[in-house]
Amino acid sequence: MSSGTGLFVTFEGGEGAGKSTQIRRLAEALKSEGHDVLVTREPGGSPGAEAVRHVLLSGAAEAFGTRMEAILFAAARNDHVEEVIRPALAEGKVVLCDRFMDSSRVYQGITGNLEPDFIETLQRVAINGVMPDCTVILDIPARVGLERAQKRAAAVGPDRFEKEQLETHEKRREAFLDIAAREPERCHVVDALQTEEAIAAEILAIVRQLRSSPAGHARTPEAAHHE
Ligand code: TYD
Repeated sequence: MSSGTGLFVTFEGGEGAGKSTQIRRLAEALKSEGHDVLVTREPGGSPGAEAVRHVLLSGAAEAFGTRMEAILFAAARNDHVEEVIRPALAEGKVVLCDRFMDSSRVYQGITGNLEPDFIETLQRVAINGVMPDCTVILDIPARVGLERAQKRAAAVGPDRFEKEQLETHEKRREAFLDIAAREPERCHVVDALQTEEAIAAEILAIVRQLRSSPAGHARTPEAAHHE
């Protein structure tokens, strides 16, 4: 990878897929190879977006409805892109982001029942040409993911396992896989049922491959408009 162009890798997936563990491992591996790595997350990642994160995750925005929540996610994303991600990429950093636009497509678009055109327009405005070079989708059956997530968070009660909720999570899983099928060059589905080591090795191989391939990435506003 040439200097000044950076590399933007996003991580997506459902509950308990192990995104944060894998991001940490990848960051360590890349740093040990001498890369300048920035780990960030959504919603949040910049001071403005972290403030919006609180509004969204506390449920304070729920009363405004799914559309307004989607707009808030997009507003936070745009701030994060312009304040943190774009400058880091311009400095040649490898940016690893825990969730990005695909989460909006899945959570707000599919399970929030919002019109695809509305969601796509919002994402185009939010990312403003800063497309991920690569998106790692950690794929896990909803039930397994929920069980893992529940083990982690002892405060979470058994109602997480209610049928309807499980169905929602399964729907999200399918939606992530659909995105991967539609955008196979950008998206890499990784089986999150493998051992932590095997998953880490697979992700590292994907990222290494990216860095050695020519920079045919769509990180220009023009290219983003082709979506
Ligand atoms: P977080 O605590 O970061 O959870 P996780 O470990 O699952 O990433 O919470 C982020 C939540 O926000 C998560 O439930 C997914 C949701 N979300 C959206 O609904 N839309 C989005 O665009 C993003 C980025 C996240």
